[in-house]
Amino acid sequence: MSASMQGKIVLITGATSGIGLAMARELAARGAHVTLVGRNAAKLATVAEQIRTQTDNQHIETILADLSTHAGVQLTAHEFKRRHTRLDVLINNAGAIYMSRQISADGLEMTFALNHLNYFHLTNLLLETLKSSAPARIINVSSDAHRGHVIEFDNLQGEKSYSGWTAYGRSKLMNLLFTYELARRLEGKGVTVNALHPGFVATGFGKNNGALMRLAMRLISPIARSAEEGAATGIYLACSLEVEGVSGKYFVDKQAVPSDPASYDQQTAQRLWETSLELIA
Ligand SMILES: NC(=O)c1ccc[n+]([C@@H]2O[C@H](COP(=O)([O-])OP(=O)(O)OC[C@H]3O[C@@H](n4cnc5c(N)ncnc54)[C@H](OP(=O)(O)O)[C@@H]3O)[C@@H](O)[C@H]2O)c1
Repeated sequence: MSASMQGKIVLITGATSGIGLAMARELAARGAHVTLVGRNAAKLATVAEQIRTQTDNQHIETILADLSTHAGVQLTAHEFKRRHTRLDVLINNAGAIYMSRQISADGLEMTFALNHLNYFHLTNLLLETLKSSAPARIINVSSDAHRGHVIEFDNLQGEKSYSGWTAYGRSKLMNLLFTYELARRLEGKGVTVNALHPGFVATGFGKNNGALMRLAMRLISPIARSAEEGAATGIYLACSLEVEGVSGKYFVDKQAVPSDPASYDQQTAQRLWETSLELIA
């Protein structure tokens, strides 16, 4: 059973491609007022117009921002709050893998900056709006790639050693540590926060890493899910009455499942929270 999404206010990041685009389109089809965040102006405008046409929903807005930077995250929150006084569903989805170590405009390692700090920062900037819109939902797109990783606080920016897959897996573990810590902090506030793994999905993922990686992604794409299939759990978390009031869980294929034991370490979660706060101060 799904709640009506008619007129619900939704903000979704990474909405110009893959899973984010499929979630945005479906939520728009269900009548939500959707704000798409993207970093490419032309792509953002095209996608917004496609969604309006395909869903016959004119309530599709855009915010142009690079979410790997503090300024981009601040701009997104500021612009959203300028236009809206409520937010029913926030979907943190923008993410990427960087096979070679890259540095953001703020001097942070890119995987950490985009996949973790952006979720943390944007959510915190929108938290009062979410609370005053209760019941509201936060959905963090994580990945099963979080399994088997640990957070190295003395190598948080990959400054001592770097591997793209490890940095990615750790960032997705951070999504879970953040989700569970936020759920504890939001208890009784009417705002739920859950994380999800979308499955292995054929998207633009990985294609920012050169021709070899693009070829590898193309070769394995026949065994991957479609973006629409990958979007199903996110849609479920945004709309289903079954998850009303459910918070601090990890979902795969619409089922709450245990995540890696490392993701439940409260000390690590608190330390990551404090460290992240310092980095956005
Ligand atoms: N695909 C999978 O198998 C899989 C599995 C598990 C988890 N995930 C997770 O699913 C989420 C969505 O990924 P996807 O597979 O749909 O990949 P995708 O097709 O590459 O989509 C990623 C989205 O993030 C946006 N983005 C990237 N860097 C950005 C930046 N600096 N600022 C703002 N937006 C930025 C991209 O914008 P552009 O359109 O401009 O590139 C795009 O809209 C990610 O969090 C990923 O970790 C994916």
